[in-house]
Amino acid sequence: MRKIQFFDTTLRDGEQTPGVNFNTKEKVQIALQLEKWGIDTIEAGFPIASQGDFEAVQAISRAAQKMTVAGLARCQKKDIDRAYEALKEAKHPQIHVFLATSPVHMEYKLKMTETEVLASIKEHVAYAKERFEKVQFSPEDATRTEKAFLLKAVQTAIDAGATIINIPDTVGYTNPTEYGALFAYLIGNIQAQEEIIFSSHCHDDLGMATANALAAIENGANRVEGTVNGIGERAGNTALEEVVVALHIRKDYYQATSGITLAETKHTSDIVARLSGVAVPRNKAVIGANAFAHESGIHQDGVLKNPETYEIITPQLVGVKNNALPLGKLSGRHAFVTKLGELGYQLSEEALKAAFKRFKDLADKKKQITDQDLIALVADEVRGE
Ligand code: KIV
Ligand code: ZN
Repeated sequence: MRKIQFFDTTLRDGEQTPGVNFNTKEKVQIALQLEKWGIDTIEAGFPIASQGDFEAVQAISRAAQKMTVAGLARCQKKDIDRAYEALKEAKHPQIHVFLATSPVHMEYKLKMTETEVLASIKEHVAYAKERFEKVQFSPEDATRTEKAFLLKAVQTAIDAGATIINIPDTVGYTNPTEYGALFAYLIGNIQAQEEIIFSSHCHDDLGMATANALAAIENGANRVEGTVNGIGERAGNTALEEVVVALHIRKDYYQATSGITLAETKHTSDIVARLSGVAVPRNKAVIGANAFAHESGIHQDGVLKNPETYEIITPQLVGVKNNALPLGKLSGRHAFVTKLGELGYQLSEEALKAAFKRFKDLADKKKQITDQDLIALVADEVRGE
């Protein structure tokens, strides 16, 4: 089994979510939880971006024990110097240098030619390598970059000392087949003296960030970047909890594992949701409130007989206490009787029949039936039992 590394950028790309702003104390709290979760590398921030970011990267560098702490830098010496300062006390520091390589970014944003971009990569990756053992390079907007030029940019970074190559789908443009093929092409065509870690970095504009990350793994990537709960610019980043759990549940298929402690997943998600102020949608995979809830009668009956009928993930695997069988108009008698039992009621067959009818009538008018509704509903039948 291959071991896939996890790179968390909740505090950098995740903080680019409109309206999200973590203070240093919150960042350290999240960082320590990520370490407990089993994250290999945390991108603690973009030290040149602000004094606050610099101090947060510094504080996380001091606090983190096991995981590598990374700081982001553009291809500019002042960025690299600032990252070096911020990461000085990290036990395992890493720099993440990036430069865009797509035609639209080079022409309009950077106003640089291909030759200038390659020269800048060479100069700045080499400059970073003089200060850091671990240098990561990202060709920003890689998936809209012409393939042969992307290979040149990646090879230039490797020749200058980068040992981690991250391929960002900056605008969430690619799809699993195309992104997987891009990894196969790059991995198959680079020349390197030492082992190069290939990493995926996906955005979710077309809803494919998790699928794209998994396709990258299938095609040789051994590191995945993303955020907790998938927070980030626009539609967000790859939700790491989804990739981690997908690898675990489908290890028969991916033949890969991670160092993540799965039982810490829900807790990690809760902390990020609370401190970011970005609520997790109820139907979100793995950690949403409905991820382990079954409402229809057929599903509830199946789950009560054997949870495996409708649950591929046990709630306990990700740190959720148990599943839920909320009662609604589609619920059946099996779940109704089970719920009454939990509330301490045991009705005669006749009373049960009447209570179930009243429950169905009420459920037709109300979205969800609460415990209080049930107690009120069976009160008549219970009297005289
Ligand atoms: O999405 C992106 O391209 C990035 C880079 C800075 C890696 O976040
Ligand atoms: Zn990004």
